[in-house]
Amino acid sequence: MDLRGKLAVVTGGSDGIGRHICLKLAAAGCGVAILGRNADRLATVEAETLAAGAPKAAGLVCDMTDPSAIASVAATLPTRLGAPDILVNNAGIWHRTGPLDTIPEDMVEQTIRTNLTGTIQLTRALLPDLRKRDEAAVLNVISKSGVVAQAGQSVYTATKYGMRGFTDVLKSDEAETGVRIAGLYQSGTNTGMFAKAGEDVPNHIFTEPDDLADVVVFMLSRPPKLWMHEVRVEL
Ligand SMILES: NC(=O)c1ccc[n+]([C@@H]2O[C@H](COP(=O)([O-])OP(=O)(O)OC[C@H]3O[C@@H](n4cnc5c(N)ncnc54)[C@H](OP(=O)(O)O)[C@@H]3O)[C@@H](O)[C@H]2O)c1
Repeated sequence: MDLRGKLAVVTGGSDGIGRHICLKLAAAGCGVAILGRNADRLATVEAETLAAGAPKAAGLVCDMTDPSAIASVAATLPTRLGAPDILVNNAGIWHRTGPLDTIPEDMVEQTIRTNLTGTIQLTRALLPDLRKRDEAAVLNVISKSGVVAQAGQSVYTATKYGMRGFTDVLKSDEAETGVRIAGLYQSGTNTGMFAKAGEDVPNHIFTEPDDLADVVVFMLSRPPKLWMHEVRVEL
């Protein structure tokens, strides 16, 4: 897809991997709707994205655990920024690792709603608009935890295995509509995700989010007859 002049919606665009995806898409000439919860961080990334070359950009407050916020952003997007060509489902949270009964009930709920339910709801809301575009794509930033079961990550892994199943079925369902579907399964990435959950992980040894964002842009910018529907990235 030629990214110039397209509009991408990036969830979790206010920080970490999502922020770098916004900047790299901008540098490729793509407009960006940056979704997140924190208005200040969104305003910062909006300014950075415009400075990086996006023809248009806006930070949109959208808590992925709030179905009404998701519906509202999806409904107002066409008038605020235009019709979306690309959806990058990236927002996600981590919970402290440990046996299932050590994961607080509210973290169970928050993790599933952010990583899985909200993502499905936003995708469902934007699909009709995506199908109307000449070229369209949904790229899900998932995790190695969507393919490999690792100890202590029961709820996180449940959401990521769920995202893999969602991605694979969506790919079949949209095969005739022209909406291309992809899943990215990366291992540890150097962001604040673990620290936000109160877990001390030596993530400075992990893949840099800027490098991972290059992979996302590469996947999205392939020619029409070449689609990378599943990519695994490791250290
Ligand atoms: N870091 C890793 O090692 C790693 C490895 C494999 C996969 N992943 C996956 O990659 C994705 C991005 O992770 P990251 O490392 O970039 O994390 P991050 O640095 O913590 O950034 C997470 C982003 O998601 C947003 N977010 C969190 N909860 C949200 C909610 N309820 N509603 C809306 N936005 C919300 C945050 O926005 P605000 O807080 O500003 O609202 C932020 O923009 C996630 O799906 C994660 O599971 C990460």
